[in-house]
Amino acid sequence: LPVDPFDLVIFGGTGDLAVRKLLPALYHRYADGQIPETSRIIGIAREGLDDDGYRASTRKALQENGGDKSKIDAFLKLVHYRSLDARKDDGWDDFAALIGGQPDHVRVFYLSTSPELFVDICNRLGTYGLNKGKARVVLEKPIGRDLKSANQINDAVGRVFDESQTYRIDHYLGKETVQNLLALRFGNILFEPLWNAEHIDHVQITVAETLGVGQRAGYYDHAGALRDMVQNHLLQLLCMVAMEPPSSLSPDAVRDEKLKVLRSLKHIDESNASQLTVRGQYRAGAAEGQSVPGYLDELKDHKSNTETFVAVKAEIANWRWAGVPFYLRTGKRLPERVSEIVVVFKPVPHSIFDPSAGVLAQNRLVLRLQPDENIKLWVTIKHPGPGGLRLRHVSLDMSFAEAFGVQQPDAYERLILDVVRGNPTLFMRRDEVEAAWHWADPILAAWADSGESPRPYTSGTWGPSAAVALIERDGRTWNEDSE
Ligand code: BG6
Repeated sequence: LPVDPFDLVIFGGTGDLAVRKLLPALYHRYADGQIPETSRIIGIAREGLDDDGYRASTRKALQENGGDKSKIDAFLKLVHYRSLDARKDDGWDDFAALIGGQPDHVRVFYLSTSPELFVDICNRLGTYGLNKGKARVVLEKPIGRDLKSANQINDAVGRVFDESQTYRIDHYLGKETVQNLLALRFGNILFEPLWNAEHIDHVQITVAETLGVGQRAGYYDHAGALRDMVQNHLLQLLCMVAMEPPSSLSPDAVRDEKLKVLRSLKHIDESNASQLTVRGQYRAGAAEGQSVPGYLDELKDHKSNTETFVAVKAEIANWRWAGVPFYLRTGKRLPERVSEIVVVFKPVPHSIFDPSAGVLAQNRLVLRLQPDENIKLWVTIKHPGPGGLRLRHVSLDMSFAEAFGVQQPDAYERLILDVVRGNPTLFMRRDEVEAAWHWADPILAAWADSGESPRPYTSGTWGPSAAVALIERDGRTWNEDSE
């Protein structure tokens, strides 16, 4: 269904995220007929471009993405550009008049800039009265770089926009498989009775990327993998696996349950960080058959203690999850791009089978987020045919592309339209962001205090060997099925 006409203003409109994700997402929703023709998409950056210049670069990005020429032409009529600096007055009157010209439109201000600019931008939006009416602000992650700076940002944004107008985006929540986790857990009777420490041995969450940091080194070197990926994406995935059933899908019912999980995470600090965390930094190696430079080679001064890989053994201190480790890992320049959640069930309590029948493997539920989206449930069956009772471990597969024959929309497509519709269920509430920093801060402090450098790993490998040791010490292994 089409949404109401809106004005969507992208601060950081010439940036990597806008060009690679936001504009293509808007184009796809437009091409599908969901965006009314009177809507406007306004890119904002400091560069002195005009509408035509911005449309030309947008056209190029959309064409590279495989867009249809006539649809791109039509879409570009919605696209505008204004050159503004959040720290200077120039141009703001004109911009305010442009937005004010459509008082009935939903107004979305998407802050796709460095978090240091969030406060200045919101203050200006407030000064020019643009926070009124159906105005919403979208904050890209990471919100700050620790609890203190996140609080400062949230306080300052909160002086201009209500919490109900504030959408803290974590695009992993817009991924199809993540929403499927809700459907799977709460739309079936099969899983929930087993979804606890009594029946689940452990959970693994892997988000592996083949890309390095490349052009984003400036941002990334101040962040690192814990801030860039774990504090938000991986913890949000963990919450979706671990939360109690919410009483409904209302935004606060879901977010209340996620918050409880975040607040139940066991503390990791200097007393145990060396046993429970591993951080790594890639060196030169190979990615997808090409030789690639190391992380330090990509930096101007070639010096950095920033991690490009993290593995963490997290635990949730509550009745449901006591003693069930959640092994998290994410990194750049790993051998393949794969994101998955693996729920490993406990072994059966007693085997009735002869050892010659084969090994009784544990049931596993594998939710694959990317590159392809699918769900596999690994079960034990009898090997077909004669030859006695031999056991085999096979997967019951559900591949969305095959089953439904459709390309899944990108996470941003779904989430941007949720903002326009005013549905914050899949966005992070302020207290969630704070709880996540509350867990991450002592880990960052422990690393900084240890004075140790991240462990080097060769590009194209699964990170430092210590990450393998982290799980193998507990008699477990990282999931290897990449079928
Ligand atoms: C972003 C991170 O939030 O997520 C990037 O800042 C990362 O470093 C990206 O590459 C991964 O997103 P996706 O959707 O490609 O898995």
